[in-house]
Amino acid sequence: MTLQNLPADVQAFLAPAKLNLMLHITGRRDDGYHLLETVFTFIGLYDTVYLRCRDDGDIVLHTLIDGVDAEQDLSVRAARILQQASGSKCGADVWVEKRIPMGGGLGGGSSDAATVLLALNHLWQTQLSREALMALGLQLGADVPVFIFGRNSFASGIGEELSELSIPNQWYVVVKPDVHVSTPKIFAHERLTRDSAPSIIRVFPRVQPLRNDMQAVVCEEYPEVAKALAKLNQFGHALMTGSGACVFLACETEAAAREVCAQVATEYEAYCVAGLDQHPLSTLK
Ligand code: C5P
Repeated sequence: MTLQNLPADVQAFLAPAKLNLMLHITGRRDDGYHLLETVFTFIGLYDTVYLRCRDDGDIVLHTLIDGVDAEQDLSVRAARILQQASGSKCGADVWVEKRIPMGGGLGGGSSDAATVLLALNHLWQTQLSREALMALGLQLGADVPVFIFGRNSFASGIGEELSELSIPNQWYVVVKPDVHVSTPKIFAHERLTRDSAPSIIRVFPRVQPLRNDMQAVVCEEYPEVAKALAKLNQFGHALMTGSGACVFLACETEAAAREVCAQVATEYEAYCVAGLDQHPLSTLK
């Protein structure tokens, strides 16, 4: 069963992408994980996760990603972790329709996993709290909890200490350079800045320009990212999201974003998207 011939009884759940509007690295834990401060915003670029309950307890992913074993897929791992934590005997058929570029710092895989946790908690009626789901999500990756939290956030710790943040309504042009950045390689880089001062107050930083502490090292290692940044910087102050490779520019209006997007789309895979006030599943119970 492919995405073209889905059974009639599947249910669809959205998984939005995120941007890191700033990212500061403030230290390193004993286990090697980095302490950071970041602002997450959800954006109107979505994968869709289709789910159907199974009685036999199996978790079956019907949309395999090239080179990723089904059991390693974050969506499958999310379903299994929920089965274990809740003791549910239910299984699920899973289809993921990808629109969020993979490996781009947009959180697509993490968001899919969060949507699986939220949606199966609902469909299986396992009734775990959001806090419990966030703790499960953290086992899958540092970027998973924010999608379960469901609000634009200021994050600290390794990205799991979250407080809701109000972010001005903005549009974004997101550009995907044709390169894959290795997140572990960048976090392990000897020239990565790890000593940014922690913030005192958790508000959307008004001090411009915002920065991403991983950007300099990524640009050094992946000139394609530097090139895409230079292109977007012609129109304003562009920034990399997460550990890249995607870069973005915030615009005040849709018209301004569309104009910039049209100009960069001749050379790059580019998206013109609105910031979201909240995650589309933020009220799912
Ligand atoms: O959590 P996630 O699987 O996305 O992290 C991928 C890798 O990035 C980790 O194995 C770790 O090496 C590094 N990382 C880090 N500090 C973080 C998040 C990730 O060092 N806060």
